[in-house]
Amino acid sequence: MSLDLAVIGGTGLYQFPGLTDVATQHVDTPFGAPSDAIVSGRLGERRIAFLARHGGSHTIAPHRVNYRANVWALHALGARRVVGVNAVGGIRDDMGPRVLAVPDQIIDYTHGRVSSFCDVDGAKVEHIDFSEPYSASLRAGLVAAAARAGIAVVDGGCYGATQGPRLETRAEIARMRRDGSDLVGMTGMPEAALARELGIDYACVALVANWAAGCGDTAEISLEEIFENLAAVTAHVPPLIAALLSSE
Ligand code: HPA
Repeated sequence: MSLDLAVIGGTGLYQFPGLTDVATQHVDTPFGAPSDAIVSGRLGERRIAFLARHGGSHTIAPHRVNYRANVWALHALGARRVVGVNAVGGIRDDMGPRVLAVPDQIIDYTHGRVSSFCDVDGAKVEHIDFSEPYSASLRAGLVAAAARAGIAVVDGGCYGATQGPRLETRAEIARMRRDGSDLVGMTGMPEAALARELGIDYACVALVANWAAGCGDTAEISLEEIFENLAAVTAHVPPLIAALLSSE
């Protein structure tokens, strides 16, 4: 049975509940090992693969994730569509804690990450169009699935990808707001660009865990609150993916 979709889970999503007929694969790639074994299984009549971006027990920091191995391994297993689930901080006024958003743009503030499959001696350099960094059809499918499932989502917004693992300063977030970033997260890039390099349809489901620095009414960001909010909003992801697949 071929794969209909792959999901890369971020902080708070380490396994995909409700899968049947489960197979676990340790995939090796020319770029090393992915973050964890890839678990595939049936969701109703469809087959999905799941990979925990930070490893099953969250041991891999955002700047140390082997994004190339992760994307390559899912593609090697037959994934042609990938949904990346990312915890984020909210910058725009309607992107507060527990909001679920499907962004449509990216600004990349990361540095020092290996960000292309071309980054190998002798590899042919391939440029990609990245004007629209996410797949329009997969984004539209997610937004429509959310409406059918009664899950509130914000359609669109700009994901600002930061290096982490520390959270940002207020000045950094103020600059990001001026730049046009609506959300801030540490893992959206280079994942999206690598998916494009392999011709994968990729979209992001961003889960707002907290107001970004200086955007809420507290002087500091509480990590406890981040994890509470994440647990609440992450619960919408499996029904959202199920609604996406059941309508196709
Ligand atoms: N900044 C960056 N990444 C995040 C945040 C944040 O405030 N919250 C959750 N992931």
